[in-house]
Amino acid sequence: AGAVGPKGLAFAPIAPVPSTTDQLTVPAGYAWKPLISWGDPVVQGAPPFDLDRQSAEAQEKQFGYNCDYLAILPQGRHKALLVSNHEYTNENLMVPGFTTEAALTVEQLRTSIAAHGLSVVQLRRGKDGFWEVEPSKYGRRFTGLSTRFELRGPVAGTDLVKTAKDPGGRTVIGTLNNCAGGTTPWGTVLSGEENFDQYFRGHPQGDQRNQKTYSLVKDGKPSEGRYWHKADARFDTAREPHEINRFGWIVEVDPRDPRSTPVKHTALGRFKHEGATTLVATKGNVVAYMGDDSRGQHLYKFVSRERVGKGGKGGRSELLDAGDLYVAKFEADGDPATDRDGTGTWIPLTKDGKSAVPGMSHEEVLVFTRDAAAKVGATPMDRPEDVEPDPRTGYVYVACTNNTDRTSPAPANPRAKNKDGHVIELREAGGDATGTRFDWSLLLVCGDPEDPSTYFSGFPAEKVSPISCPDNVAFDKDQPGLWISTDGAPSTLKLNDALHFVPLTGADRGRVSQFLAVPTGAETCGPWIDAADGSVFVNVQHPGETDTARVDAPASAFPYTDASKRTPRPSTVQVRRTGK
Ligand code: FEO
Ligand code: CA
Ligand code: CA
Ligand code: CA
Repeated sequence: AGAVGPKGLAFAPIAPVPSTTDQLTVPAGYAWKPLISWGDPVVQGAPPFDLDRQSAEAQEKQFGYNCDYLAILPQGRHKALLVSNHEYTNENLMVPGFTTEAALTVEQLRTSIAAHGLSVVQLRRGKDGFWEVEPSKYGRRFTGLSTRFELRGPVAGTDLVKTAKDPGGRTVIGTLNNCAGGTTPWGTVLSGEENFDQYFRGHPQGDQRNQKTYSLVKDGKPSEGRYWHKADARFDTAREPHEINRFGWIVEVDPRDPRSTPVKHTALGRFKHEGATTLVATKGNVVAYMGDDSRGQHLYKFVSRERVGKGGKGGRSELLDAGDLYVAKFEADGDPATDRDGTGTWIPLTKDGKSAVPGMSHEEVLVFTRDAAAKVGATPMDRPEDVEPDPRTGYVYVACTNNTDRTSPAPANPRAKNKDGHVIELREAGGDATGTRFDWSLLLVCGDPEDPSTYFSGFPAEKVSPISCPDNVAFDKDQPGLWISTDGAPSTLKLNDALHFVPLTGADRGRVSQFLAVPTGAETCGPWIDAADGSVFVNVQHPGETDTARVDAPASAFPYTDASKRTPRPSTVQVRRTGK
């Protein structure tokens, strides 16, 4: 009785969990297991996790910190590949004896740089139906420290990305702040480089476009960054002004080919990329939808110039090398505070291999994309995070996580001081994802359902779970309905962050039901849904994150249930239906 959810994943919604609770909470009839945690071996021959002996060399072969996006790519029935992003690091929970970031040694800094990036591990099906990590040739790390990326697309080889160590401007060492992501029709994984600015030391005489638009100057002062310049001079913009232009891209990795060279795709623009998700348009072009997750930043799409066959046949990475980049302008025909639907335009930033923005070159539009979007009058959004097209309908769902800086409502951003966020449904005109017009409506205006400014597509507020700060959105490949994970409920609702399910059609459209809650201090990332297997995968990111928590004095023991553990470990978790 009271079960919701799609076929294969029926569940009774859990009660919201107070933000002090240090456990992963799942519905009745479901069980969970950590699949892999920070420091576990990834590359063959990696040493086991040892908190007192972490080194850059070990970390380069082990699962990174703060797992974010995840994908489970099947290899037949009994094996699969897990791909996970590692967004950032919490040194106060990683380094025994931590005092301040400024006091970290060069080796500790290098270990942190190595804990960024992505991991690939092979999985095999265990006897109990849960997946287990299997050492194999597929085990691979992409790190901030040493992995060589090929810079591709229109910006590759141009002056803006040339450095002393890479005078050709085509090879970048490392990927950083990999947040959300998506799969491509040809089986690879895209990952967004998000808050890359934090790793770079600002400079008063630096390129003003980076200083201002990409936040290297705050309150008139150049940022000190995370002291990474002490480990590697390229992170000091005074010494290497162009290195920073080589981060902030969508990267592509091919987990099925352990020897492949990963790519940074410059045709998709440079900003604080949350992620990128793709679909094949009816005409055959590959379309990538992307959010720039900062207050007042924008929503984008890329349309490939070349086309693929039906169902993505013939799709390949090179499709992302050339195409048009657009940014969204939302329009409302009433008061934006109360108007819940409207139309919109995709404004071109690049067109047919040229700049479409007056006063900016093609390369400048792609490297300083935020400036280009502002110039053409794109709509400043409430932190557009993950964006995901429904594989059944092509409708696109945009998670706007929050924006307490907003002073007045704007089309598709209905609340000033929007602390709880909202979710937009975007429908391309005529169902053509390559076009320039769309319709939009608000699916959810989030918050405590007792707050009169919330909206659940007309579903009665008293029958939904509280939801705040939507961040990642996901679909199962077969079963309808949107899955939404959150990042911020502890501060807005005093509840642990959550994973929710929301039907999109029929009488239950807007009925938000909570599936799980992550432990204290964590945010819910991933998620990856496999309804046919009765499984939900989430990345439990930054468990026990507080400014004052330390190794040996943590706020969370996750994934352990034994509170004597010295520090929590961000982990990929499988939740599986075990009851009838
Ligand atoms: Fe890394 Fe926008 O969350
Ligand atoms: Ca309207
Ligand atoms: Ca996110
Ligand atoms: Ca986040």
